[in-house]
Amino acid sequence: MTETHGYSLDLGSSKFCLALLRSNRKKSEIEVHACPSKGIRHGRIVDFSAAKDQLSLLIEQAEHKFNTDIYEISVSITGNNTNSLLLEAELHLENQQVENATLVSLYKQAVEKASSTEKLVLHVAPLGFQINGEAWYENPIGMRANKITARYFVLQGNASYAKEIVRICNESGLKVENLYAAPFAASTPFLTHTLKKMGVAILDLGGGTSTGLIYIQEKPVESFSLPIGTDTLTHDLSIGLSISHEEAEKIKNLWGAEAENPSEIIEILDIHGKKKVVTKEKVLRILIPRIQEIAAFLEKKISRHKIQIGAGLLLTGGGSEVKGIEKICNATLKIPCNLLKLIHPDGALLTKETHQRAFSCVIGMLLLEEKNKKDLRNSTNKSSTTQRLLSLFSRKS
Ligand SMILES: Nc1ncnc2c1ncn2[C@@H]1O[C@H](COP(=O)(O)OP(=O)(O)OP(=O)(O)O)[C@@H](O)[C@H]1O
Ligand SMILES: [Mg+2]
Repeated sequence: MTETHGYSLDLGSSKFCLALLRSNRKKSEIEVHACPSKGIRHGRIVDFSAAKDQLSLLIEQAEHKFNTDIYEISVSITGNNTNSLLLEAELHLENQQVENATLVSLYKQAVEKASSTEKLVLHVAPLGFQINGEAWYENPIGMRANKITARYFVLQGNASYAKEIVRICNESGLKVENLYAAPFAASTPFLTHTLKKMGVAILDLGGGTSTGLIYIQEKPVESFSLPIGTDTLTHDLSIGLSISHEEAEKIKNLWGAEAENPSEIIEILDIHGKKKVVTKEKVLRILIPRIQEIAAFLEKKISRHKIQIGAGLLLTGGGSEVKGIEKICNATLKIPCNLLKLIHPDGALLTKETHQRAFSCVIGMLLLEEKNKKDLRNSTNKSSTTQRLLSLFSRKS
């Protein structure tokens, strides 16, 4: 039976990961492989060669694990290298009927307006169409209009960062098929219609950065980023308890910030190799204020939308694995806070490892790419953002 393969890559501050979507007529399956990040810190490339060497290692390991050759791939642009904006495009039609071609022209106008030497257009979503400066419509096709105005949500990416990421990929033997904004990829494919309709904010809590997206009445309206991730929790524990980064990471993963059983203890080695007893209470005293600080940062970003996000906040990314984090966010933000569930929209089987929320971005890209390809096959508009991005960078062929 013919099998198709799609690949995606997320170069994060904590880990590099590669995912494969294997599909045949009967089923689809996702596999993921990850290794520690090198040369990228807080969403910035700080050592090009180290990042390239680590990516080459990741590819080698993943090819062995997946038993495939990896070539064409979708890649994420981390959240702090992306931004969103709302913009309008307009056409005068002299009482003609609105057709598919009208929407294509409006879309092209929007892409043109949002593109520059500094900014790439990563994603464009129509929010509505206004006929003759009066009522707004979701689908204006078939209506007669003198003037049509379209409003779009646009996600842009930092062009110089994107070019460097593409260069790292090319020099590691990969051809970049498409670029995705991380906050979009990590959230959109997993959101149900109900969540989007109720309004929801999603936060992808990474190691060095955190990024998010807000949906109101089914549409994305704003992306945001926070200059902090949950690596700061590890750092605080390491300093506060005089223990190594590795020991601090172990304690963070074991207890997190779950307030139950504060009298629990653990014996670990301090930085001088001496045995040390640490109480959970002490760990909580360090971690809880830091998480409250992250939640307060987030409050500033989402406060003006709070009343419209009935489904509250959904947490994803590796940082959302810190136990009890959603309860602290809930107490600080005073909106429902839950963990994002990684469910394939078509119900395809996800292996256990792919359920980890640290992989929401890399898996989300696979699902978006699959949908994009289906849409392109069914559409006459071959000049989508995907197609446009294909011509942006030179790649190894
Ligand atoms: N099981 C776990 N328990 C607690 N924390 C975890 C767990 N798994 C991952 N983390 C934390 O999640 C963070 C890494 O998240 P993630 O893998 O999403 O980051 P990244 O995508 O590499 O980084 P960034 O998005 O900042 O570029 C680290 O702080 C890590 O300690
Ligand atoms: Mg990330």
